[in-house]
Amino acid sequence: MELRKKLIIDTDCGSDDAMAIAMALRDPRYEILCFTTVTGNVDARQAAQNTLFTIEEAGSYEPPVYLGCETPLLVPFVGAMETHGQDGMGDMGLVPKRLKVSEGNGVLKIAELLRESEPGEIDIITLGTLTNIALAMRLFPDEMRKVGRIVMMGTAGLGTGNVTPVAEFNIWQDAEAAKIVFEFGVPLMAVGWDACIDDAMLEQEDLDRLISSGPLGKVMVECNRVLMSLNRERFGRDCLDMADPAAMAAALCPECIAECDDYYCEVETAHGIAYGGVLVDYYHFSGKPANCAVCSRLNPSVYKDYIFRTLGA
Ligand code: BDR
Ligand code: CA
Repeated sequence: MELRKKLIIDTDCGSDDAMAIAMALRDPRYEILCFTTVTGNVDARQAAQNTLFTIEEAGSYEPPVYLGCETPLLVPFVGAMETHGQDGMGDMGLVPKRLKVSEGNGVLKIAELLRESEPGEIDIITLGTLTNIALAMRLFPDEMRKVGRIVMMGTAGLGTGNVTPVAEFNIWQDAEAAKIVFEFGVPLMAVGWDACIDDAMLEQEDLDRLISSGPLGKVMVECNRVLMSLNRERFGRDCLDMADPAAMAAALCPECIAECDDYYCEVETAHGIAYGGVLVDYYHFSGKPANCAVCSRLNPSVYKDYIFRTLGA
């Protein structure tokens, strides 16, 4: 039997992270060694509770969940409670029934797992701010160089930002951390905001299919109800932009990727209008070697099929 690829998933678990986590837990080709949580959508403690809830709902296996950094490196925590709810999961009272946060620190755990691994054996997928990963790189560079690759949901890709005209939330909430990660020099793939919108959005028929598929599909849609009502105002219809599921699909099922190219990328950390923007050197002005594969478009039908398949819809 083929060995399952080992993963560490770092998350600021809000409602779209939850769907991505359930997908990963239910893909038999991968083995999630642990989840680490970080402050982003909500604080890292709430993110851990949301991750535990999602693990219980996914009903496959139960990797440990470790608490990581509780604040961004330099900037204050802002969060995305207006998008995902005060608790990040639509304020529906969704709490884990059984599972508890594991003892130990998430950043130390990432280093420990990599120390004990063969080079390239473990990949890291990040669904939130890059605080834990940046800290691990600063404190444990040798261990972090053993990672196979890091796939992040982050950057505006080749398009526009979602929190400022140039910045995407996961980078903007801790751009100093993102800068460390982009400059570290391990294989990186960034799934940009542009890959998560337009024809990658979950539309009414997709949502109906998930809701009618059973309790997991239903709760994974319902926990996004704050985002859904926001979208009703913005787009005039029921639809969900699912950034973290898009990144998860690109990471775990490469057939979902329609466009992905290598670029030199640089994170803006000056505290002005462009803070958190990632400059993608599309025309190679800098002459610097590429440091990141930027996924800017998914194949919508393959991507949606992957969501349905993993969530049993
Ligand atoms: C990213 O920010 C968060 O709101 C989502 O969970 C996703 O990781 C999208 O910009
Ligand atoms: Ca997230």
